[in-house]
Parts: sequence; structure tokens; C-alpha cells
Amino acid sequence: MQIKESHIKTSNLAFTYNDEGPAEAPVIIFIHGFPFNKSMWSIQMEALKASHRVIAYDIRGHGNTKSEKIDFSIDLFAEDLINLMDTLKFDKVVLCGLSMGGYIALSAVEKYPQRFDGLVLCDTQCIADTPEAKEKRMKTIESIKSKGIENYADESIKNFFASESYSTKQKEIAAIREMIVNTSEESLCNTLIALSKRYETCSNLENIKMPVLIMVGKEDKITPPEASQFMHEKIKGSTISIIENAGHLTNLENPIEFNHQLKKFMQQFVKKESSALI
Ligand code: MLT
Repeated sequence: MQIKESHIKTSNLAFTYNDEGPAEAPVIIFIHGFPFNKSMWSIQMEALKASHRVIAYDIRGHGNTKSEKIDFSIDLFAEDLINLMDTLKFDKVVLCGLSMGGYIALSAVEKYPQRFDGLVLCDTQCIADTPEAKEKRMKTIESIKSKGIENYADESIKNFFASESYSTKQKEIAAIREMIVNTSEESLCNTLIALSKRYETCSNLENIKMPVLIMVGKEDKITPPEASQFMHEKIKGSTISIIENAGHLTNLENPIEFNHQLKKFMQQFVKKESSALI
């Protein structure tokens, strides 16, 4: 599945992204997790591109979006997203973010609610890092610097997938490993600091007034189902789906169920668009 890469310069960043589907169709922007890149969304792009304009971009410092600035933050990533939308002339879109992608989506929705029609939150959470989590990130930085990225990739992969996926999803595991080892040491460390300093977004959940779909792998050890359940209870009218046979990377581990839920959710935006044209 070869998707053509596009490039666009915003005022302060040269983005690399994938852009498929009819130009005038409702837009969904996919935001990848850490430390991955836009290619983690290729199955979802393929599944939705007949009915939607599907965009997946590389976050600053990841994939092929290079960054000179090293002072990363989740808020900066959210500002980058808004700049990308402005440059692509998207007034309103649906966001779909996994894990760190969800943190970015929640930050963007808190600051710019009028720019979004809907939200898909996958394997993510609204809390800030606890002191223990912050300390763990600093230890991870030390370990990346002393033992290297290959070792970091092998260690982190042990936590990403559901137990069954380690035998059934070897291609996906290899792809994820490649994404990790292709991220620079500088970006890994700068993003770990950004993650450790992120603000909570739980206190804004009650203000979210758009359609929201929450998905989480039943065996997600990093952002467990309880974190999704909490967001579901706070966001009025949201839908939650606990995905079987999946850990932290639900879209790769159980793409059939993930895409089924995603397509069902996205249908409402197609209807809205076509009824507006009648
Ligand atoms: C991710 O998948 O984006 C990360 O696991 C998020 C995190 O470490 O908090």
C-alpha cells in the first residue's frame, strides 16, 4: 500500500503528510502516537479514502517532518496542527489521535473548539504525568543515551501490544520497530520531556460539545481502558468501544473492528455534508 508523500510549509515548519480522498469530502486528520509516524495510519487511510479526505502527518521531529526547534511541548504540537490546517485551508475537521496524538487532539480542542467537527480518541488519556511517570521518562532518556535506540525500541515494544499480537502481528511489530529506530535520539528525548511536562485536559472534557468516539484496546497497559472510561463519563454523548485482541495500538492490532467503529462514526459527517448540498 504505497501512499504518496506530500510536503507543505507553514510559517515555521515544513510538514510531510499523506493526503488522499476527494478534495471536497469531509476531512479527517490522523495524529500518530510516540514514537511513531504517519505510516501507522495507512490501513485507516485506505479504509476511509473513498468517502473522506484523509490526512496523516508527521509530527515535528518524527517521520519526515524535521524540526530545528528543540523545545517541544504538546501545546506546540497542537499549534503546529492548527498551522497545518490553516495552510491547507481547512476550516473544520475531525481529529483522530492515538495516545500522544490524543493528547495533541485534546489540547487543540481545548484551545480551538470551533475548528473541530468531531473527535476520535484512541488509546489515550486526559491526565498529566504523575511524578513517578515523569521520573520514568527521565530514566528512559538516560537509557536511550547510554544504551542506544535499538535497545529502546526492543524494550518499549514489549509494552505496546496485546499478548496475542506478539505471535499474530509480527509484520506490524516490525513496522513499529522501524518507526522507532528511524526517530532521532534528539527527537525521542525532546518528546519524552514534552510528554512529561504536558498539562491535564480532564477539566475541559465537560466542555466538549462535538461527537466523540473513544476506542481503547482491552489489553492496553500504557493508557488502560479505565482512562478511556473516565473520559467517556465526562464527555456527554460520547461513545466508547473497548477493542478485543488489542493492546496500545488498536488500529494495527485489530484493524477490522477499529475501522468498523471509525467508519460508523465518520458516516455522520458525510451525511451532514451531502444534506447541506441538497
Ligand atoms: C504514545 O503511544 O504516544 C505514548 O505511549 C504516550 C505516552 O507515553 O504517554
